[in-house]
Amino acid sequence: MKALVLAGGRGTRLRPITHTRAKQLVPVANKPVLDFGLESIAAAGIKEVGIIVSDPREMLQPDHRTGELITVLVNSQAEIRAAVGDGSRFGLKVTYIEQEAPLGLAHAVKISEEFMAGDSFVMYLGDNLIKDGITHFVREFEAEKPDAQILLAQVSRPWEFGVAELQGERVVRLEEKPKQPKSDLALVGVYLFTSSIFDAVRAIKPSPRGELEITDAIQHMITTGQNVRSHVIRGWWKDTGRVEDLLEANRIVLADLERRIDGTVDAATIIEGAVEIGEGTVVERSHLRGPLIIGCNARISDTYIGPFTALADGVQLQRCEIEHSIVLDRSEIRDIASRIESSLIGRDVVVTKSDSRPRAHRLMLGDSSRVELA
Ligand code: DAU
Repeated sequence: MKALVLAGGRGTRLRPITHTRAKQLVPVANKPVLDFGLESIAAAGIKEVGIIVSDPREMLQPDHRTGELITVLVNSQAEIRAAVGDGSRFGLKVTYIEQEAPLGLAHAVKISEEFMAGDSFVMYLGDNLIKDGITHFVREFEAEKPDAQILLAQVSRPWEFGVAELQGERVVRLEEKPKQPKSDLALVGVYLFTSSIFDAVRAIKPSPRGELEITDAIQHMITTGQNVRSHVIRGWWKDTGRVEDLLEANRIVLADLERRIDGTVDAATIIEGAVEIGEGTVVERSHLRGPLIIGCNARISDTYIGPFTALADGVQLQRCEIEHSIVLDRSEIRDIASRIESSLIGRDVVVTKSDSRPRAHRLMLGDSSRVELA
């Protein structure tokens, strides 16, 4: 049994963060989403993993200090290769498979045929997070030996997913992002396939959105009488494609945090609940109410940090209040009167009060940014 992890794609719903970074590397509780997937693959006893990565692309971006438009090469492939390496950190042997453009999940399967070399495999979407892992589903697939196995979960917005229609336990129809969903059972981004999936991906045509859909390939297997099993999962699962989902994933993962303080905290600081503080971080005159995590070499002073907040390495907070948020590396927030909450703040961002006249909000935001002012 092998694994195929999809870490290509564009991540349009997480822009502007994904203008410069692979969405699968956006951290949840200070750990890239992709790591959770790779860890559960390793925990299921799988050793060989193919990771789908996309080609680099050029983008126009404002320089964050001068505002001047510059061309940057967005190379999420290089970022993923740098973060995962040869996979040995996870106990895995990783092979990178380059996809020239995000032509669909079934296209990713198609280009992995040589790597799979006739083996069965689990396909794992790199932006999905399944709290209880996948070991149970892999064992079930190995024991029952269907041609394919899909995981389903009840969702409140089924039109955003592939949706399954069941008769009893039998899958009768699958539809990708239907306008009028026939059920509230969404396809979870973990699929188990035998090599018969390759005939199916060859048989289908691109969908109206121009992608080779895995949903259509599985539907083809059903139509041609193959045994497609389904399993409705009860545990917690998230596709972290949207900010709201990423923040919820952060909340769920941080709920299991344990207290660990490696940084320096002064006597004037109050710490409540599960708080993790990384090495080299200094906290002064602040109030920290966990669960929350602060990375290494951060500086926090005269600040309130509320539950479900994850601050990455090198973040600097002074005289502000923040909760239920994710702040990425080296960003600075200073002298903000109202509390910041439910926010995702990228790398090297500066949010600060200014006393200069005229009194106004002065913003320099990348494409597709979102600001909600109180
Ligand atoms: O998360 C579950 C959903 O994932 C399923 O319910 C849907 O049936 C399935 O189509 C998929 O929908 P998304 O719209 O969420 O897929 P997305 O485009 O976000 O791609 C999922 C992952 O695969 C993401 O990590 C990017 C990667 N990808 C995507 C495409 C289209 C690739 O590596 N190559 C690609 O060509």
